[in-house]
Amino acid sequence: MLANTPLSKEIGSEVSGINLADDLDAATVNAIRDLWSERLVLIFRGQHLDDDALIRFSKNFGELDPPGPNPYGKPINPDNPLINIISNIKKGDEPIGNLGDGEAVWHADMTYVDTPPKGAVLHAHELPPSGGNTYFANMYAAYAALDDETKALIEGKKAIHDGSRNSAGMLRKGYEVITDVTQTPGARQPLVRTDPKTGKRCLFLGRRPYSYILGMDVDESEALLDKLWAHASDMRFAMTHVWEMGDVLMWDNLSVLHKRDAFDPTTRRRLHRTQLRGDEVIA
Ligand SMILES: [Fe+2]
Repeated sequence: MLANTPLSKEIGSEVSGINLADDLDAATVNAIRDLWSERLVLIFRGQHLDDDALIRFSKNFGELDPPGPNPYGKPINPDNPLINIISNIKKGDEPIGNLGDGEAVWHADMTYVDTPPKGAVLHAHELPPSGGNTYFANMYAAYAALDDETKALIEGKKAIHDGSRNSAGMLRKGYEVITDVTQTPGARQPLVRTDPKTGKRCLFLGRRPYSYILGMDVDESEALLDKLWAHASDMRFAMTHVWEMGDVLMWDNLSVLHKRDAFDPTTRRRLHRTQLRGDEVIA
């Protein structure tokens, strides 16, 4: 059993006594995997991983996927395409990474594709003195806490997850502004996801902007989505992560929503990220 400290009632554990740059044996990898599937978010403090070491650690948990499309229409990190850079830093006029310095609203990553990533690993290299906190919410707990009437209402229903904008609301290159949510481009995903390994069920909402529940009137869909999102983003299901240099944080992208606070644009923030390939989402 790894030494770990729960970070909130529903989600997150800090794991200590491990150097992720080491070659990890199978027992250690299995222990991390078990704890991860139970707590959904794991934090390892004080790590020093270059990009190759971050990739090596991440590959213990599955195959890696390159980052999704960004607003700039060209790869952010052509030298190492499996590493996504989350940063507000610019080299001249060119951003070196994604998401800028603004708020990123609650979302799961890339659920607008049919096979969204099952998880991600994020490592802090440069941080502002404050701001840019990240929040994670447990969607198993959110689903379990729904009333029976709402559970019945969403059972078997699918929603469109918008692929036109990133989580900071920036329109991706090649997409148009959406005026009719029934025509939103993006994958149709079940509102309730079943984990194929455990059979446990969670809310699977993706992102609120431009979402639409198939088969409903737009007004009805908007009202139900607003209600589900207000419920899912309640902090009683969530934890707050205040970043420290060297943090490595891994989250289960299919069972968790996350969001990020804005931070002072005159400061520098740079995190490097990998993501783990996922399968089709099952209702
Ligand atoms: Fe994200």
